[in-house]
Amino acid sequence: MASTHAASVLVASNRGPVSYALDESGGLTAKRGGGGLVSGLSAIGPDTDAVWVCSALGAGDREAVRRTGGALDTADTGGRRVRMLDIDPQVHADAYNGIANSVLWFVHHMLYQTPLEPAFGAEFRRQWAAYEAYNRAFAEALAQEAGEGAAVLIQDYHLTLAPRMLRGLRPDLRIGHFSHTPWAPPEYFRLLPDDIAAQVLGGILGADRAAFLTQRWADAFTDCCHTVLGPGIPSGTRIGVHGLGADADFLRQRAHRPDVDERMAALRKQIGSAPDGSPRRTIVRVDRTELSKNIVRGLLAYQELLESRPEWRERVVHIAFAYPSRQDLAVYRDYTAEVQRVATEINSRYGTPDWTPVELHVKDDFARSLAAYRLADVALVNPIRDGMNLVAKEVPVVSDEGCALVLSREAGAFEELSEDAVAVNPYDIGGMAAALHEALSMGAGERAERTKRLAAQATALPPARWFLDQLAALEK
Ligand code: F6P
Repeated sequence: MASTHAASVLVASNRGPVSYALDESGGLTAKRGGGGLVSGLSAIGPDTDAVWVCSALGAGDREAVRRTGGALDTADTGGRRVRMLDIDPQVHADAYNGIANSVLWFVHHMLYQTPLEPAFGAEFRRQWAAYEAYNRAFAEALAQEAGEGAAVLIQDYHLTLAPRMLRGLRPDLRIGHFSHTPWAPPEYFRLLPDDIAAQVLGGILGADRAAFLTQRWADAFTDCCHTVLGPGIPSGTRIGVHGLGADADFLRQRAHRPDVDERMAALRKQIGSAPDGSPRRTIVRVDRTELSKNIVRGLLAYQELLESRPEWRERVVHIAFAYPSRQDLAVYRDYTAEVQRVATEINSRYGTPDWTPVELHVKDDFARSLAAYRLADVALVNPIRDGMNLVAKEVPVVSDEGCALVLSREAGAFEELSEDAVAVNPYDIGGMAAALHEALSMGAGERAERTKRLAAQATALPPARWFLDQLAALEK
């Protein structure tokens, strides 16, 4: 297939670096996203010929594609060349909501439980066909955009089939696939029908390199290949590990802007003082409201802390930011409702006229998240499983006076941060309550020392390095 643009570096992901809102008069407002991929790509400078291929995700995005033919206006993208694909909305919904977020996400995070049990019948097969079509749309767009021998970095569980499809279209390309999620162990991965399990693995093995955030997830992938496909990585695909750290420069600068200071003042007012006049302690969590984040068990652990150690009542506030995610799916909406129900119940059981035990906020506000990071005494990061978890790495970087980190041993970040975090089993509510007590009781000196070491670990692998290392590895 002929190249139309001849880019030498390409990135492909479901969600792109910009999204559009459509107002009633037909106006479009661009909103630029953040995250590791955006910061990583900035490492190769704004004037390269890199192209980011992503999908339109809503009416605003689709309108932007209609007006631009898919090559977005670089004024909206910070100078980046972005090609947004307008995939048929039903195909996208089946691939993204149906297969990626309801099946592959649940498998890798080991989330299946009643009422969402795996059941792979005709509806699943229909959605799988959409997942294939969605992956093919990406492979074809990448094949068109890529110059001879270009490096293509394909992201995540949405796009597991695209590497092999692209290899078929353009054998000259150097293709990498990166998984931002955990990878399931074979006994869980094999919940998938055998032919689908083989397609997912075989799709990724179409890449020259398959990379993961930690050795644990890379090993699980290799184990799945051996179990499902037979011994040896058949295509000779290389396996890599690239940890992703916090973007220290960006965070430290952003966390000291006036809007963050304003939100800190507002939060301090909400938190208030203990009956003896001392400022209340704070346990902070910041997550997308999403089942793997384990927000409900976190709230129950806080409740158990208040129950078993009444000395903390009126002396601590749990600030929980739970930002809505994937609300097209009933299971995510139900989970959001459950988070709200449990928070309300704790407040009505323990709250007093002067004290709200849980401050739950669901409206996404990055400046307020940074404000909470700065003032947190304790950060609670307790996912059931998580590819990395950047909150665990961001808090120590911006903390003003030191913050004790309560961290699930099932988060990828645990591999790097275990020495100075308070480790928890995410299913053990009693254990998490005890960990919260330990973290709240930690002396200020020890907290500050640990935070310093955590911040050094957390920033050791900045997004720029994560990105450049992957490109360099594809050269070999
Ligand atoms: O954790 C894996 C991941 O793909 C992240 O890279 C990303 O933040 C998220 O999941 C995708 O979320 P969404 O469904 O909102 O695009």
